[in-house]
Amino acid sequence: MPEQLWKGRFAKAVDPRVNDFNSSIRFDQRMIEQDMRGSAVHAAMLAKQGIISQADCDAIQQGLASIAADLQSGALAIDPAAEDVHTFVEQPLTARIGDAGKRLHAGRSRNDQGARDLRLTLRDESLALQKQIVELVRVLCKKAGENTASVMPGYTHLQRAQPITFGHALMAYAFMLLRDLERFEDATCRMDSQCPLGSGALAGTTYPLDREYTAQNLGFFAPCENSLDGVSDRDFCIELAAAMSICMMHLSRLSEEIILWCSWEFKFIELDDAFTTGSSIMPQKKNPDVTELIRGKTGRVYGDLNTLLVMMKGLPLAYNKDMQEDKEAVFDAVDTLSLCLGTITPMLATMTTLPENMRNAAAKGFINATDCADYLTKKGMPFRDAYKLTGQMVSDCIAAGTVLEQLTMEQFRAYSPLFEPDVLQAIDLTNCCEGRKSYGGPTAMSVQKQIADASAVLNDWEEAHAEV
Ligand code: ARG
Repeated sequence: MPEQLWKGRFAKAVDPRVNDFNSSIRFDQRMIEQDMRGSAVHAAMLAKQGIISQADCDAIQQGLASIAADLQSGALAIDPAAEDVHTFVEQPLTARIGDAGKRLHAGRSRNDQGARDLRLTLRDESLALQKQIVELVRVLCKKAGENTASVMPGYTHLQRAQPITFGHALMAYAFMLLRDLERFEDATCRMDSQCPLGSGALAGTTYPLDREYTAQNLGFFAPCENSLDGVSDRDFCIELAAAMSICMMHLSRLSEEIILWCSWEFKFIELDDAFTTGSSIMPQKKNPDVTELIRGKTGRVYGDLNTLLVMMKGLPLAYNKDMQEDKEAVFDAVDTLSLCLGTITPMLATMTTLPENMRNAAAKGFINATDCADYLTKKGMPFRDAYKLTGQMVSDCIAAGTVLEQLTMEQFRAYSPLFEPDVLQAIDLTNCCEGRKSYGGPTAMSVQKQIADASAVLNDWEEAHAEV
């Protein structure tokens, strides 16, 4: 058992059960790279301010580098009995460089260290998630581009409603995900704005720190304005978890859509064998497990957000140990979302679309009834009357087992003399789709524009993050 940093005050050893209960190394070791980077910058600042000697600073930085190298090579392992990642790093450091290692903690606390490390870590995680979202939206744009003429029924209440195209439907999800991308960028921006390092345990410190220096050298915009806020706020975590929850909600809706589309009832798409699973008993089954798992895991990410919100709601200033729970929740959400994005993207890239089935479904369900009513309206009948008459026609067709486009001209004219042969063009499915020329609509030209606009956003993101 390594010695606790705070052992000085205690006469008795801590009960091993409390040690285990208290320890966070199992999950905060994920921040070790960020913790060491933070320590190197803190040491440089201490030397610059004359708080430690330059020789001590050099020893600390070399010691940290040798620890990093040994962790990398496997020559050094993280001690699972350490209390947390901050404690862990100081042990081999002091063992390697002696007193210089013990001077590192001047003017800082694990409270400001931890708040800093979590911001630095989540910034990197957020960037990696953004990259995954960009990849997913690229696939959606590509598939949409291949399906600008694939007419399918658009649904409301899961009832066939009006004709759209498969490309139009996919782009709806692309735009949801682009807003997610924006939310991640926004949350990261606030995460980057304020550096808590130098807040000390809560009340700042008597050392003449240069907080501007550490903030800037760690990639923050500025030091946080208030030390109590710096160590005890976790809204940056909650914001990211909220963005992740919303993104999961979008993935879950898309998953639900896929589950429907690949069922025999729809059969608008076929998933690649590599992205489906079978049943142990029913030989005919090909199950969309990936999408079902994404739908299921959405609840888990919402749970992580809820954990964070509830954890924080009653805490007085400043740091409270409750806050150690932040990392497991937010990292679980990060890992879950990353796993989902990493799986749904190749699954969509490899799916086959079945436009003929989409069109067959569109041909049933009277999704051109609005267009029939609009036709009559354009010929002079008030819309309400046209709506009622078309309703009657639909009802008669259902009774006769036919559809509007199969009616003869005599039958049309028996309903209204306004019907002329051009009605067949007006209620033709492709024309119904292409006639909806309003901005954002389902026409091939409109969907192409949507793809171009979305792609421009993706290109901008990639340009801005070229080094990622
Ligand atoms: N492992 C702790 C955490 O993650 C570090 C902070 C400990 N600070 C303290 N005052 N006990 O929250």
